[in-house]
Amino acid sequence: MSNIILEVKDLKQHFKINRKFTVKAVNGVSFEIQAGKTFGLVGESGSGKSTIGRSIIRLYNPTGGEVLFNGENISGKLNSTQNTLLRTKMQMIFQDPMACLNPRKKVLDAVAEGLDIHKLYSTSSERNEKVYNILERVGLSKEHANRYPHQFSGGQRQRVGIARALIMDPDLIIADEAISALDVSIQAQVVNLMKKIQSETNTSFLFIAHDLSMVKYISDYIGVLHLGHIVEMGSTEEIFKNPIHPYTKSLLSAIPSPNPKMEQKRTSITYDYNSSGIDYSKGSKKLIDGTHFVLATDQELDEWAN
Ligand SMILES: Nc1ncnc2c1ncn2[C@@H]1O[C@H](COP(=O)(O)OP(=O)(O)O)[C@@H](O)[C@H]1O
Ligand SMILES: [Mg+2]
Repeated sequence: MSNIILEVKDLKQHFKINRKFTVKAVNGVSFEIQAGKTFGLVGESGSGKSTIGRSIIRLYNPTGGEVLFNGENISGKLNSTQNTLLRTKMQMIFQDPMACLNPRKKVLDAVAEGLDIHKLYSTSSERNEKVYNILERVGLSKEHANRYPHQFSGGQRQRVGIARALIMDPDLIIADEAISALDVSIQAQVVNLMKKIQSETNTSFLFIAHDLSMVKYISDYIGVLHLGHIVEMGSTEEIFKNPIHPYTKSLLSAIPSPNPKMEQKRTSITYDYNSSGIDYSKGSKKLIDGTHFVLATDQELDEWAN
């Protein structure tokens, strides 16, 4: 038995803008996520990260490729079982999950929304108990249940967002820039909370971010996305120890060092796709080591090795 929760195979998401122009936001992306593991997806703004998340959870209909969730193909026409599986066992957390909520709705009802939609309780006291339990698991308390979104700090709102997802007992949580808007110290707290939850529940995470600094602490595997292509992918250790692609190197060079002496010496490497001479459509996936892949031609691999 495989323990792969999510398998994304050659996913393509193209947006037709007009008769002449199509944005190839995601252009042949493949990766998988194992049960209880976190896959970090990083890349600059506009690289296609959100589109991947949205295609997986079927806010879009994929242009091409396949997505298997718990072995079910969820990229084509969905039957009602698949639809329910997708709406319950896969959850998404956004940058500010409460910004899109009704400001007049109490946290109790915001967190219970998934339970309400899918009628996952028999009495209202059972429903509310579930909410109180989840609030405690994310570091809030029963008292928070009767408050309104504006009464929470950014970090607390993100905890509510996690609670909303977690109450569905999901197999996969897609966190799209979920901590990007928070202060660095709060970011660390939320990342630690996600890790704690993962160790308790074995939930898998697709963790989307535009830089590598927090991704390092939460991810088991990392995919580096640029212009709709995963240019490099591997275990977190491999990506940090042995980055191959110039774009990966530039992302790594942008991480500030906590050590002031090191930080003084840090030089950031810029990567300009237009002048690099690299054409992603020409490269193919080259195995570096174990699960470490780079999108490159043979010639590029030789050049980067020198
Ligand atoms: N609904 C859409 N229609 C047209 N273009 C889109 C749409 N959504 C995203 N794009 C384009 O696709 C590219 C990737 O966007 P996105 O996935 O939001 O990137 P990221 O999340 O990495 O910042 C961008 O060029 C963006 O303008
Ligand atoms: Mg985005």
